[in-house]
Amino acid sequence: MAKVGVSVLSADFSKVKEWLPQLEKAKPEMIQWDVMDNKYVPNSGVPIEEIKKLRPKTKLFFDVHLMVQQPEKYFNQLKGYGADSLTFHVETSNNPKKTIKEIRGLGLGAGIAVNNKISAKKISPFLSKVDLALVMTVEAGFGGQNFIEKNLSKVKLLREAIDKEGLNCEIQVDGGINAETGKKSVEAGADILIAGSYVIKSGDIPKRVQTLKNL
Ligand code: DX5
Repeated sequence: MAKVGVSVLSADFSKVKEWLPQLEKAKPEMIQWDVMDNKYVPNSGVPIEEIKKLRPKTKLFFDVHLMVQQPEKYFNQLKGYGADSLTFHVETSNNPKKTIKEIRGLGLGAGIAVNNKISAKKISPFLSKVDLALVMTVEAGFGGQNFIEKNLSKVKLLREAIDKEGLNCEIQVDGGINAETGKKSVEAGADILIAGSYVIKSGDIPKRVQTLKNL
């Protein structure tokens, strides 16, 4: 069984009244919010105020994926908007240990991410300090891209390190996730599948979430 996070990057927020009840019914472990600065990635992502607007409408866990050059600039605002965990990309911090401590100091879950071209070895030293290790299986920045299967070698490396040291860190895989790529990701050792278009654009959110949960 896999845990599922639904990325709302490609959601139409003018139709939230239609898809939020579906998402509630689907009971994913988390909603993933893709916050972007149009610098670290060439996209502006989900307007950060949508987090604040949706917070009072659902109890679902808000996992925020920061694709920004200076993640610490967003921490207090996101805490105020009701985020439950914050994940930053390892190369966007000059002191990941300090950045993780800052997130923890806000009482939030902490995650660290490796983008498509970044080695998983860059985050190995921090696995004992975070709750989530996010492996991108696309180049961060856009939904609807094709799955980059070679990045599953990063999942295997992290899985081995986490199991060897008996750590609690969960591995998320994000980008191009569907029934087939989700299965491969779980087989490689992923705990949490982050899916955007496969779920949100499917017309049957509960069914697609259940399909991924059953992998
Ligand atoms: C890309 C985002 C992903 C993306 C996933 O930068 O981090 O979460 O929205 O979308 P799909 O599942 O459509 O690849």
